[in-house]
Amino acid sequence: MSDKFYITTPIYYVNDKPHIGHAYTTIVADVLARHYRQKLGDKSVYFLTGTDEHGAKIAEAAKAANISPQEFTDQITQEFKTAWEKLDIKYNDFIRTTEDRHKKIVVDILNKLKEVGALYESEYKGLYCVGCEKFLTDNDLVDGKCPDHDREPEQVTEKNWFFKLADYLPIIEKKIKSDELKIYPATRKNEVLGLIKQGIPDFSISRSNKSVPWGIDLPWDKEQKTYVWVDALSNYITALDYPDGKLFKQFWPADKQLLALDILKFHTLLWPAILMALDVELPKELDIHGFFTINGKKMSKSLGNAVSPNELVEKYNPEVTKYLILSQFSFGSESDIRVDHFTEKYNADLVNGLGNLVNRVTNMIEKYLDGKVDKLAKTDFVEQVNSKIESLKLREALLDIWKLIQESNHLVDDSKPWDLVKNNEHDKIKEVLQTLANNLYNIATALEPFMPNTSQQIIDIITAKKITKPDKPLFPRLNNQ
Ligand code: MSP
Repeated sequence: MSDKFYITTPIYYVNDKPHIGHAYTTIVADVLARHYRQKLGDKSVYFLTGTDEHGAKIAEAAKAANISPQEFTDQITQEFKTAWEKLDIKYNDFIRTTEDRHKKIVVDILNKLKEVGALYESEYKGLYCVGCEKFLTDNDLVDGKCPDHDREPEQVTEKNWFFKLADYLPIIEKKIKSDELKIYPATRKNEVLGLIKQGIPDFSISRSNKSVPWGIDLPWDKEQKTYVWVDALSNYITALDYPDGKLFKQFWPADKQLLALDILKFHTLLWPAILMALDVELPKELDIHGFFTINGKKMSKSLGNAVSPNELVEKYNPEVTKYLILSQFSFGSESDIRVDHFTEKYNADLVNGLGNLVNRVTNMIEKYLDGKVDKLAKTDFVEQVNSKIESLKLREALLDIWKLIQESNHLVDDSKPWDLVKNNEHDKIKEVLQTLANNLYNIATALEPFMPNTSQQIIDIITAKKITKPDKPLFPRLNNQ
């Protein structure tokens, strides 16, 4: 186990506002970063997120909004930053691909790729989907249209610079097979190995200015812009000030790079190939999660059903929002999020579950033990939850915590301390309440990466010299509608 932890999210496209799809990946990264900060110390953890601001898709969106691409990206990027602030996401850096610090290093990267002979010039003819920012093959089309964007791709013929992907694929395949480059979960690893078997053509790293006017110039050919994916993937090292920066030396290779399956090929094949050409170590692990739908439907601008994380934060608060999202499905699986069930789940798990437990236990300790318990201690339970967090089993970690909450509530119901009082069974009361106080302490400790404020609040209450029932419940009940 290394003594540093570098985690990244994809950098999000700024053609549209943040929705809970983007929030999901960012929240997962935040939980992992918080866990490792506790384990390794603040200075040993680096959590990077940001925005992907170049390319035809963004230029189109800016045009539709009637403002310049830079103004447009400034606005939407601010929306991402605000959303993360509201959700209490504690990233270390937020990179924008329009920043000089990024663009400068991308130019160095391109020059280096050319210098080492990883690039060659050729003609490209193909069907380009602006929505995907990629060339599609006939197999990708449904009724002649890109199925993801419901539009016909454009026929494009242009002179492009190509990257010799074929040179690197055999080594990448080996590294993926042996888990030297770990792809989690295994279903995605097999999917990538399958893709390599099918054969992947070299990809072009540039686009003519005519088709893509908004991007980084190729340093040796100002008629062409850098392919947006080469620009974007580089962010994971430009943000660390590759190649000589202190951060790069401390934090690269990335320990975990999170993404969803929609951008699997770019991260598992193009990205490692670019790094190999640059003679840079590969990330240790690429973690691919599923795509979720909302109330049974794919989130999209045209359907107008994209859920904003801001709305959820206003209704529930940041920590509860994170809990509700993360407890919906396991990392890696594809699933549906029932936002319409969130209030029901909130009332069940937080109001009746955790909040009620805190109230009952502190109330009884105040009444029956004069607010005093023996010293509380961490048990193996916290380790068990932490190891689930480290292997990205976040829903499972939360289920473990809520199992202990439920068991503790049952212990209160079954042992009935109020009856024990009537029978003067003081030792028994002490034993039960000590167990419950210890459980609460462990529940709160394990909850820290997910709900840091709630965790601290409970720890303060339960470790006070004289424990008293909180003045008001931790979680107010909400009307279920
Ligand atoms: N800009 C590229 C990524 C470049 S990284 C070098 C991009 N951006 S995106 O805005 O489309 O964001 C895609 C990512 O957002 C997904 O990989 C995933 O992390 C997250 N999600 C967006 N919608 C989602 C769902 N509906 N469900 C789960 N995750 C979702 O692709």
